[in-house]
Amino acid sequence: MKVVDNVLELIGKTPLVKLRGCVPKSSHTFFAKVEFFNPGGSIKDRVALKMIEEAEKRGDLQPGGTIVEATSGNTGLGLALVARMKGYRCVLTIPDKMSEEKVNTIKAFGAEVIITPANVEPEDPRSHYSVAKKFALDQGAFLANQFHNPDNPKAHYESTGLEIWEQTGGKVDVFVDGNGTGGTVSGTARFLKEKKPSVKIVCADPVGSILYDLYYYKEVRTPPERYEMEGIGEDMLPGNVHFDVMDEFVRVKDKDAFQLCREIMLKDGLFVGPSSGAALVAAIEYSKKLSTPSTIVVIFPDSGAKYLSKVFNDKWMKEKGFL
Ligand SMILES: Cc1ncc(COP(=O)(O)O)c(C=O)c1O
Repeated sequence: MKVVDNVLELIGKTPLVKLRGCVPKSSHTFFAKVEFFNPGGSIKDRVALKMIEEAEKRGDLQPGGTIVEATSGNTGLGLALVARMKGYRCVLTIPDKMSEEKVNTIKAFGAEVIITPANVEPEDPRSHYSVAKKFALDQGAFLANQFHNPDNPKAHYESTGLEIWEQTGGKVDVFVDGNGTGGTVSGTARFLKEKKPSVKIVCADPVGSILYDLYYYKEVRTPPERYEMEGIGEDMLPGNVHFDVMDEFVRVKDKDAFQLCREIMLKDGLFVGPSSGAALVAAIEYSKKLSTPSTIVVIFPDSGAKYLSKVFNDKWMKEKGFL
């Protein structure tokens, strides 16, 4: 086991694990990039570190300063961890549909949390975006702004994309993930396409999100609806969703994502969250269209530990009609 000087050195360089049991028998090879190996527990550690380091370089963040962000949880954990290690105050605005485990973990990391209503328009002054923006303005804090900050996709261009390229020895043919802020797909896709233009980028989009419609029709044809998956899908178009590097969107139902999430644990031993299930649902569906044996890399953004009261709770699954 290598020795590191600081926990922040453990961010990135996550393993690529071959999936055997939870994917159908086919000529394709499925690999999962397992992001719960990051010290804050998710892929968002990469983004948190990059956004803070770049803000420090620009002088947007001074020693002892405050970082504020509207976050569905995982970016909050990453920011809280990096802020703590670097001596900054961290304040996070979070919609009330997020799991209690996520919120409590953020508090445990030493961040301050402001809970906002989930079912309001993004422009509404009560939304988690508006509350974070106002806080930054009023308090002179650094708004990480993960939905629009170019350092978010840059983190993935420089780390996630490069790692997948190296770990597959350039064999990657298809890359699959969901879009929340868009940072993971946009940054990773741009890197991979520069290396190998034939790489296909497939996005999992929850039923209820508007990104599928915006990608294919450039307008919202089905109004946004509430869905249970956390971290992916949107009711607005974030600046970090770069449609130009994406090739296909696959609509994923909550029920399919939640059921596959359990299968991933039981058949391949990877304890991951529902957005991992959603990405794999999309990957399997897309793979059926491929006529040549392909190497498919799927992002598993976070751990199942944060969803014990949901996907890994039989009572909740039955209430939702997912079991
Ligand atoms: C669990 C989970 N999955 C996927 C994503 C989507 O990643 P990105 O914001 O890079 O699009 C997020 C983002 O917060 C997340 O929390």
